[in-house]
Amino acid sequence: MDDIKAMEKAKEHFGEILEEQLKRIQVMKDDQDWVDYSSLDTIVIGICGGDGIGPYISQSARNVLETLLTNEIKSGKIEIRDIDGLTIENRVKAMKAIPDDVLDELKKCHVILKGPTTTPKKGDPWPNIESANVAMRRELDLFANLRPVKVPELDVDWVFFRENTEGSYVLGSKGVNVTDDLAIDFTVATTQGTERLIRLAFDHARKNGIDKVSIVTKANVVKTTDGKFLSIAAEVAKDYPEIEWDDWFIDIMTAKLIDPYRRKDFKVIALPNLYGDILTDEAAQIQGGVGTAGSANIGKKYAMFEAIHGSAPRMVEEGRAQHADPSSMIKAAAMLLGHIGFADRSKKLEMALEICTQYEKAKVMTGRSNGATGNEFAQYILDTVRDPDLEKKWKSYQIK
Ligand code: IPM
Ligand code: MG
Repeated sequence: MDDIKAMEKAKEHFGEILEEQLKRIQVMKDDQDWVDYSSLDTIVIGICGGDGIGPYISQSARNVLETLLTNEIKSGKIEIRDIDGLTIENRVKAMKAIPDDVLDELKKCHVILKGPTTTPKKGDPWPNIESANVAMRRELDLFANLRPVKVPELDVDWVFFRENTEGSYVLGSKGVNVTDDLAIDFTVATTQGTERLIRLAFDHARKNGIDKVSIVTKANVVKTTDGKFLSIAAEVAKDYPEIEWDDWFIDIMTAKLIDPYRRKDFKVIALPNLYGDILTDEAAQIQGGVGTAGSANIGKKYAMFEAIHGSAPRMVEEGRAQHADPSSMIKAAAMLLGHIGFADRSKKLEMALEICTQYEKAKVMTGRSNGATGNEFAQYILDTVRDPDLEKKWKSYQIK
């Protein structure tokens, strides 16, 4: 193809992308209300096992949920439903990030607990289809990715609000190889998409008595989209005069997260999609590894809760899947409980997680046979939740 023809084709493609994004903005403008879980007769929790270690750690998290919600499941207030088919084999068969029938089933749930799914890249044995996470976040409009990281002994207590439907991800599979030599991807920031994320971050701070929000961008270089993110943050901040806010560039922020003198000053951190992806892995590592971090993908109608890590196919190949750490999925389950109105149980589960993973450590996960299995660890967490002295125990660890 000659260059002129290639350019024409790329322009046409670009035109379609613009149309799609303008439509998306219209949908956001038409805004819906937040779902009220307390008004639902039955809250349906869908469980997607996913790939690799996903089915193992999801099963542990499911057991925890079933135990903590026994009465509500009996009374019909809660239904736990398995959603099959979100596996790489099925997705490749349909050549879709999420096969249509699976997406239909997901849309019949109110909230979803999702195990990690394989995200192919060029050169993998799988066709290079889009990530199921990214597709689900887009299809269910899960615009905020909340990722808490807490390390009491370092005085670290962060909540990341990662923008989840825009940035470099929004068109990840729609970039163009204009010619053999020219590849272009896109980054998108919309007023509506940015504002709703930043508001949620400030609202979270306000509701929880947190007096500081940090915005992270690279607005000095990525001037248009990151520039928009930062200027919208400045506007939104005016509605929260009691909350101090500051802004950081992603490079120095990456350094500051490991600066023992500065990192304890960060509290709520709001940032565009890709920076959020990267920074939250770093943050999770400080907490003890990505296996310890859960994540909530929040939209107005749906919400999805997941681990922040991948499906670790190597653990399965090496026969170690039963030793995969379920803490991240159990943390996700705790966030799910809080989100649908069981704040007390959510808090207790988080306390138990903290005791088991950070302080008491009566069982330890190593990812290998010299450590506990995921099921044993989940049982340890459950026993801890049900310990009548749970709160006393937790408090005793808070005294330094
Ligand atoms: C995450 C993951 C995903 C992402 C991948 C699996 C597409 O890394 O949830 O952080 O990049 O968002
Ligand atoms: Mg990631």
